[in-house]
Amino acid sequence: MSVKQSKKVKKIIHCTDLTKEYQFGSEVIHALQKINLEVTEGEFVAIMGKSGSGKTTLINILAGLLSASSGKVIIDNQSLVGMSSDQLSLMRREIIGIVFQMFNLHPGLTVLENVELPLLFNDIDKDKRRAAAQEILSFLQLSDYTNNYPDELSGGEKQRVAIARALINEPKILLADEPTGNLNSLLAKEIVTLFKKINQEKGLTVIFVTHDESLVDDDMRLVKLKDGKLLN
Ligand SMILES: Nc1ncnc2c1ncn2[C@@H]1O[C@H](COP(=O)(O)OP(=O)(O)OP(=O)(O)O)[C@@H](O)[C@H]1O
Ligand SMILES: [Mg+2]
Repeated sequence: MSVKQSKKVKKIIHCTDLTKEYQFGSEVIHALQKINLEVTEGEFVAIMGKSGSGKTTLINILAGLLSASSGKVIIDNQSLVGMSSDQLSLMRREIIGIVFQMFNLHPGLTVLENVELPLLFNDIDKDKRRAAAQEILSFLQLSDYTNNYPDELSGGEKQRVAIARALINEPKILLADEPTGNLNSLLAKEIVTLFKKINQEKGLTVIFVTHDESLVDDDMRLVKLKDGKLLN
């Protein structure tokens, strides 16, 4: 194998002419218009754009939570177009970790139980679930909070728990839709630092949506959306 071949980088996300239209009453909303986006495995991509520019729509399509109106979406060599909802769930479980602005933790479960919850769907026995959750909580410096409930945590701690839950299945891609939107600027920076650690130490591809330009730096590739179109 030549050096060039051995260094070949893998495209983990590939969207071609991706379009999404929503029907809103009698109106058609062109939320995404012919998006062409390639992301290499291990990249850290920041997506910026004004409210309504299509960021959440794009994240949800990449996560297989929403179907495209037209165009191609390939995630880790699998085409999402035409997949059944079961196939999409499996793809999500194996490849994608998602973090949202609102944390979405289960209030009646402890930190440890929240984090191990995704493993319940994977038929993994209790001891292994617990060990995996404890390991990821330790990586995110949350070991002291394992038996606390979400209400007992600060916003930044809640978001770290949500990140732990997103990582428990060892995904290849971490999708984060305005994960810092509910945090003050100090905590927001901490979360971004954590994403960098996950990107660099675990090799995950990170797609990070934000409104806040001060959180984007040279470690990331900036992608801008405007009115459903990609600017660069
Ligand atoms: N379920 C829906 N039905 C109809 N229109 C929708 C729906 N979801 C989103 N839209 C519209 O699609 C466009 C893109 O919305 P989207 O939520 O992707 O934007 P966004 O960039 O994430 O905005 P924000 O920064 O406010 O979260 C907007 O015009 C929005 O009103
Ligand atoms: Mg949004």
